[in-house]
Amino acid sequence: MANPSLLILAGDGIGPEVMTEVKKIIDWFGTKRGIAFDVSEDLVGGCAYDAHGTPLTDATMAKALAVDAVLLGAVGGPKYDNLDFSVKPERGLLRLRKEMDLYSNLRPAQCFDALADFSSLKREIVAGLDIVIVRELTSGIYFGEPRGIITEGNERVGINTQRYTESEIARVARSAFELARRRNNKVCSMEKANVMESGILWRQVVQEVHDKDYPDVELSHMYADAGAMQLTRWPKQFDVIVTDNLFGDMLSDLAAMLTGSLGMLPSASLGAPAANGRPKALYEPVHGSAPDIAGQGKANPIACILSFAMALRYSFDLGDEASRVEQAVEKVLADGLRTADLMGPEGGTPVSTSAMGDAVVAALDASL
Ligand code: NAD
Ligand code: IPM
Ligand code: MN
Repeated sequence: MANPSLLILAGDGIGPEVMTEVKKIIDWFGTKRGIAFDVSEDLVGGCAYDAHGTPLTDATMAKALAVDAVLLGAVGGPKYDNLDFSVKPERGLLRLRKEMDLYSNLRPAQCFDALADFSSLKREIVAGLDIVIVRELTSGIYFGEPRGIITEGNERVGINTQRYTESEIARVARSAFELARRRNNKVCSMEKANVMESGILWRQVVQEVHDKDYPDVELSHMYADAGAMQLTRWPKQFDVIVTDNLFGDMLSDLAAMLTGSLGMLPSASLGAPAANGRPKALYEPVHGSAPDIAGQGKANPIACILSFAMALRYSFDLGDEASRVEQAVEKVLADGLRTADLMGPEGGTPVSTSAMGDAVVAALDASL
């Protein structure tokens, strides 16, 4: 049987730096565990624009649709800030998400014990935290029409539209309920039903899906602004949070600081199961291209490494191997290794991006 296929789109800024560390781990699985992947690489984002005048070529899009899983680094950067909107690096990523129909974006926020003192919140608030934000990823205000900048009278008007169909809400709600059943069986749905019609529909549909098919799961509803407050007040009250595209984007960056650093947060973007039972999938860190530290060996590769662990779990049924990677990460953190984003008064051993990757590989070796 052919090896499972992976398409690596490292992208811009720190994307290629953190992806280099993931490639060490992919190689480790090939040589030490006999789990080999057919890996191909291509361009996305600003680097694709530089090479082809577009942030994602049709050929790369076709490859992404054909492989078992896509691993993405990050896109964007100041060099591309003034490009026409249609060819901005971020459009490449959004096209991948839309055309692969990756409607369910799992963004776990787990606080490793070794980092509990490093979070901007007190240890007792974050220690042991393990929540997942399920972000709707292919609709809402990111994609709704009408959109654009128009002229009305003598001034410009910027327009975006929040739009959700009931089936779009229902499918992401199902994904959250299914996930909750494999965890602590609790879902909190966040919207702004007090001010937005799309929020009213969101709340109704999530409740209907729950009552019909998931009555065993504990469901609550919260306004997203109050949800942001509760996430910082007592985040351990949550298990799975399901929310729309824009709220999910913001709440997951907020959740990053519960874990210590944005450099720690992985994500899995999943579509509906295909004929082989597996979903179309793209795995990427929650963080961006971090132009302020790019090219300096300072980036934390853990978010990208943990995203690969999610690929092992969700695309390749290798949950035990995913746990092996997660435990290796936990070990290097417990050993005190810290990239620059994790350095604080608590101290630790400062390491570069590549030394952190090497240490995870060494911890994987030690796990055998
Ligand atoms: P960012 O996530 O790139 O950086 C925010 C801050 O977090 C910076 O101070 C950065 O140094 C730090 N940081 C991020 N990742 C880190 C890591 N792995 N290790 C250590 N520190 C890390 O967000 P931004 O600055 O708002 O955006 C920069 C560019 O990235 C923009 O073009 C944006 O559109 C893009 N972006 C892309 C993605 C993606 O590709 N999925 C996600 C977010 C932002
Ligand atoms: C993310 C990013 C993206 C988003 C951008 C780069 C398109 O912020 O993945 O969180 O807004 O979804
Ligand atoms: Mn974001």
